[in-house]
Amino acid sequence: MPVESSIITTALQNDAVMGLSCDPKYLLSKYFYDSRGSDLFREIMQMPEYYLTGCELEIFRNQKKIITEALVNNTERFDLVELGSGDGLKTRILLEEIIKSGAEFRYVPVDISSEANRELVDSLAVNFPDLPVDPFTGDFFRLTEKLNGSVSQKKVILFLGSNIGNFNDHETNDFLTFLADICSTGDRVLIGFDLKKSPGVIMDAYNDSHGHTARFNLNHLERLNRELEADFQIDKFEHHTTYNPLGGEVRSYLVSTDQQEVTFKCSGDRFRFSKWEPILMERSRKFDLSKIKTLANDHGFNVIRSFTDSKGWFVDSLWEKQ
Ligand code: SAH
Ligand code: AVI
Repeated sequence: MPVESSIITTALQNDAVMGLSCDPKYLLSKYFYDSRGSDLFREIMQMPEYYLTGCELEIFRNQKKIITEALVNNTERFDLVELGSGDGLKTRILLEEIIKSGAEFRYVPVDISSEANRELVDSLAVNFPDLPVDPFTGDFFRLTEKLNGSVSQKKVILFLGSNIGNFNDHETNDFLTFLADICSTGDRVLIGFDLKKSPGVIMDAYNDSHGHTARFNLNHLERLNRELEADFQIDKFEHHTTYNPLGGEVRSYLVSTDQQEVTFKCSGDRFRFSKWEPILMERSRKFDLSKIKTLANDHGFNVIRSFTDSKGWFVDSLWEKQ
């Protein structure tokens, strides 16, 4: 097994044991994206109900020139680092424009999913054969190891798709502190934030009638069965989603429909579920512009520009490190 894969499998096991031993139980959403999970996420992105992708695509298609000018604000060579790059569907629009601008850069996609990274690198080699691509497979937080020695290299960082919404307060703070640490004064960061909107629109995106989101969540348990020899009975869990407009947070749960016990054969750990006990699978937080400004300023960044779609549902916020 490649070193990166074994590091991820060990982390998957430690984090799953930790989360399922807690009350209430939880699993970490970063483990959704094995090969099957990445495919299922692509299906989610294609649903019209999952408006986030369409909004960010519209922003990039209509404003790519001005975004590129704002991102590449001088002629110095830079690293374009994308955290949680996935299939790079939207990033390609920016890559094409940045290449057109004549800027000298290297693209560094960072993703915990080895499959997503491999497919992205292969397809970029076809579409942009002259673009230097230097992928990193692993957790964002381990990126510092890769950047060691080149932290001073000028950077532009992308964190798209409202990935930031999957963090709780504590994780958001850790992430933005890490981001500030790897940036030097003047480095720029483009972060996609999904904005607060009608709760009905949000619920349709995360509780779709096609069952894609339910399958995406259930695949996490199937992954534990595949990789940790767990024995989850998938048909004994039901997907349930809530949206609380007070805090602006979607929560996805898998609820045990029966009293049951699950064993991880690889470690011997056992977890008891009572009937109707939930596992918190993911949070997807929604933001407003004042919260975004506070997050930036609290972590040593200034908001330079906000790029929004025509409905005002999503914003790509451009920050500069002070
Ligand atoms: N940015 C893309 C993909 C979003 S899906 C877009 O906007 O379409 C989220 C991606 O982030 C997945 O590919 C997942 O594997 C990756 N990811 C989630 N948590 C991660 C972490 N902690 N470290 C590295 N990658 C992570
Ligand atoms: C990757 N992330 C921003 C998605 C979201 O909207 O929270 C993951 C997702 N979960 C369910 N649908 C999409």
